[in-house]
Amino acid sequence: MKLLASLLMAASLAATSLSASAADEKPAAAPAGHGAVAAAPAAPAEAKPDLVQGEAKFTAVCAACHGADGNSGVPANPKLAQQHPEYVVKQLQDFKSGKRPSPIMQPMASQLSDADMKNIAAWVTSKKGKAGFAKDKDLVAMGERIYRGGIADRQVAACAGCHSPNGAGLPSQFPRLSGQHADYTAAQLTAFRDGVRKNGPIMVQVAARLNDREIRAVSDYIAGLR
Ligand code: HEC
Ligand code: HEC
Repeated sequence: MKLLASLLMAASLAATSLSASAADEKPAAAPAGHGAVAAAPAAPAEAKPDLVQGEAKFTAVCAACHGADGNSGVPANPKLAQQHPEYVVKQLQDFKSGKRPSPIMQPMASQLSDADMKNIAAWVTSKKGKAGFAKDKDLVAMGERIYRGGIADRQVAACAGCHSPNGAGLPSQFPRLSGQHADYTAAQLTAFRDGVRKNGPIMVQVAARLNDREIRAVSDYIAGLR
């Protein structure tokens, strides 16, 4: 709702400045052919993300936990490199608003403006995600079955259907999963299942039908996906 409200707000602000600049434009008797170019209003909401600012902020505040290039080496801290920018921005907004609870990330996200979030997201998506590997030989086959085929008799949809067969996800809709730390993935699936993380209603439904062993299996498989 907050996002919708701010979008509406941005839209009405843009409309206001548009009509203001249209009014400014009138007296200027531009030579034929130049009018249309001169009248094009600057749209601040569409500003290009600033990679230099994104890197500077990330390096100063985030790199300590998420790794210098967004490939965290700590299993509890997610890798962010190559993640889709829209997903990163959504998560930061959800941390900031408390919609996705995290005692660690809420104070971090609260210090970020919308522009900071966009800049950081654009920078991390430009970094190459570091591949990982599955560790649990006994569980990885089960993990692969769940990832590729779901669990038919419990109506668990195949993860691959949304997150793509190689875990790359689908830009702007479904996050990239491949190579993510198994501990982090398992923690998120458990949080969705137990109603702690509610910011992805689809995932709440998917995870509700997974037991601990299945969560460990599919998380381990995802760590080795590439
Ligand atoms: C003290 C360590 C720490 C710092 C500093 C930190 N993070 Fe995090 N971050 C975490 C942890 C832990 C999580 C997992 C939170 C959870 O339990 O859901 C996380 C999660 C995230 C996620 C969600 C990723 C996903 O795949 O859903 C994003 C995005 C993120 N952090 C961005 C940032 C940014 C941007 C900064 C700097 C402004 C930052 N983090 C600073 C520890 C940290
Ligand atoms: C119908 C589409 C769909 C299916 C099927 C699906 N997911 Fe997701 N998944 C999503 C969406 C959408 C999100 C982003 C939620 C949000 O906005 O926070 C997500 C998020 C996630 C996350 C959080 C990523 C992060 O970085 O924190 C994990 C982990 C995940 N999915 C694992 C799975 C697994 C494992 C399966 C199969 C058992 C699965 N998903 C099936 C749509 C789907």
